[in-house]
Amino acid sequence: MQSLGCIRIFGAATFFSVVVSASSVLAANGAGTSPMAAPPLTQPAADQTKIQVAQAGAAVADKPVSFAENQAVRGAKLFREVCADCHGESLRGGLIGGPPLLGSAFEKKFAGGAPASALFGFVSNLMPPDSPGQFSPGEYADMIAFILRENGIAPGAPLPTNADALDHLIVEK
Ligand code: HEC
Repeated sequence: MQSLGCIRIFGAATFFSVVVSASSVLAANGAGTSPMAAPPLTQPAADQTKIQVAQAGAAVADKPVSFAENQAVRGAKLFREVCADCHGESLRGGLIGGPPLLGSAFEKKFAGGAPASALFGFVSNLMPPDSPGQFSPGEYADMIAFILRENGIAPGAPLPTNADALDHLIVEK
């Protein structure tokens, strides 16, 4: 039951691996033992921790992504300086070959229910193509806040930079 619940809300590689390790721990406990039986004394404490982590993880609900307006304002400036030649100032595609960051192709990949970690991971690992990773996580969050705002996502709580938190923030137009 636990894993069914988990699979329904999974969307994050890190979360998935926690579930996998929890189910292998459960399998290692053996089908023959009573569900109420205390774990053997030899059971490493870490295994118990993994089960607790998986249960805690299952309780973290997915939420719609949001960003703070000031992140988007800073991000707009950086985007104009660094990204707009390729993607266009209004994100509709630029002069030197970047795809639009608005519209159906973009939405299908990043704004149709994907976790914000997908967009954050793509941009912070691959953009700009000639020197990926050159910005701080906070600066990447600013630029992503700008992209989200231009896609019509409403402002609210700041966009985090932490991968686990981003895994539970859903981008949906
Ligand atoms: C030299 C041109 C260039 C610059 C500068 C550039 N990009 Fe890109 N970008 C591309 C190209 C080309 C792709 C398509 C790459 C691919 O699909 O593998 C892309 C893809 C993307 C995507 C995914 C779009 C999609 O639908 O797949 C995002 C988001 C993105 N870039 C954001 C940024 C941000 C933010 C910056 C500034 C930090 C930036 N890019 C700078 C050329 C550029």
